[in-house]
Amino acid sequence: MTAAVDELAVDGDRLLRRLDDLAAVGSTGDGGVSRLALTDDDRAGRDLVVEWMEDLDLEVSVDRIGNIVGSRSGLTDGPPVMTGSHVDTVATGGRYDGNLGVLAGLEVVETLVEAGVTTQRPLAVGVFTDEEGSRFSPDMLGSLVYVGGMTLAEGLDARSADGVRLGDELQRIGYAGVVPVPRTAPAAFVELHIEQGPVLETEGFTIGAVTGVQGISWQRVLLTGQANHAGTTPMHLRRDAGYVAAAIATGVRRIALERGGGTVATVGSLGLDPDLVNVVARRAELTIDLRHPDERELRLVEAAVAELVAEVAATEGVEVAIERLARFEPVVFDETIVDLVAGVAADRDLPVRRMVSGAGHDAQMLARVCPTGMIFVPSHDGISHNPVEHTDPDDLVAGADVLLHTLLILTDTRGPGRVADGR
Ligand code: GLV
Ligand code: MN
Ligand code: MN
Repeated sequence: MTAAVDELAVDGDRLLRRLDDLAAVGSTGDGGVSRLALTDDDRAGRDLVVEWMEDLDLEVSVDRIGNIVGSRSGLTDGPPVMTGSHVDTVATGGRYDGNLGVLAGLEVVETLVEAGVTTQRPLAVGVFTDEEGSRFSPDMLGSLVYVGGMTLAEGLDARSADGVRLGDELQRIGYAGVVPVPRTAPAAFVELHIEQGPVLETEGFTIGAVTGVQGISWQRVLLTGQANHAGTTPMHLRRDAGYVAAAIATGVRRIALERGGGTVATVGSLGLDPDLVNVVARRAELTIDLRHPDERELRLVEAAVAELVAEVAATEGVEVAIERLARFEPVVFDETIVDLVAGVAADRDLPVRRMVSGAGHDAQMLARVCPTGMIFVPSHDGISHNPVEHTDPDDLVAGADVLLHTLLILTDTRGPGRVADGR
């Protein structure tokens, strides 16, 4: 039995087929996918995943914030070892972000079912609500509520930019479940994900053993000036919200470049009102995304940005209101699991590199309640959150095999327990 378990491999074609089938839901016709959290397309994606879970005889439960968990019993009771990710996407998403982690989890289960293997500990596959945060902030909202980092009431009251309430959308699409949150901590959590950056491909590695996730700071800046005639208003008499927004956008980039050391800063959304050729903008709204692996450095960048915003707005006589959208400190993953992922990859002769994640992930929330790690596979040209997002099929399958064997070890199915129960 042990030798057979050691030699198990996922069915790559079946994994790729499921990825294709899920990518057809909310397809944007250019290779990309749009399934913003809790839209009809998100519901259709969830429905398909739940159907597959039921086909695999998983016990499906949905909690009050809409997280879906498919569970498979083990030979012993206790909290499950969990894998999973998300199936919501950004509006211009690719086909692998999130989806790979969920569908590789199902592929692991199907591989075990086919081989007649019951794991020692129970195994579960999670699908977390609103990971992307594009429609409802913060990102990773479902997993944050799952672990008790945000109350259910706060999560349900999250509003989209156009004022829609998350709880109402959850009801509308039929995913307001009954399982209470926070949910019981898993024994351990491992998430497979595409890297979404250029490191693995550039350096020739197939697997990333993720050591942690960098800190994330999101804010929305609302600027209020005065609308006026573009031809008659002298430059020194303007209160131009559009100008201030543009100065912030360029200033934020300058700050990131000046600080260096891995600081990244993005103004990804910028809107003007009334947004007309011959009117000085009365209002402007922009978002600022700042990230750094070191909390102290992230705070310094935030302070520099706050100073910039205050200074340029004051000079132009524009009022500023700032809304905090998300703030997560850097997360360090469990060393035992990082070593395990690296060891499993090395055993399979896959070139593996330890690395910090630049993107946010549900795993960073689960890390608050149980030993957690992640497995990365390369992203072609480092492109993600884009319809052309691509990972070589061999790499997708290699990642799923590393996930399979990592889970076999964490569930004690390949040898004695290496990881203590959840903390
Ligand atoms: C969330 O997925 C992010 O990293 O933006
Ligand atoms: Mn993702
Ligand atoms: Mn994403």
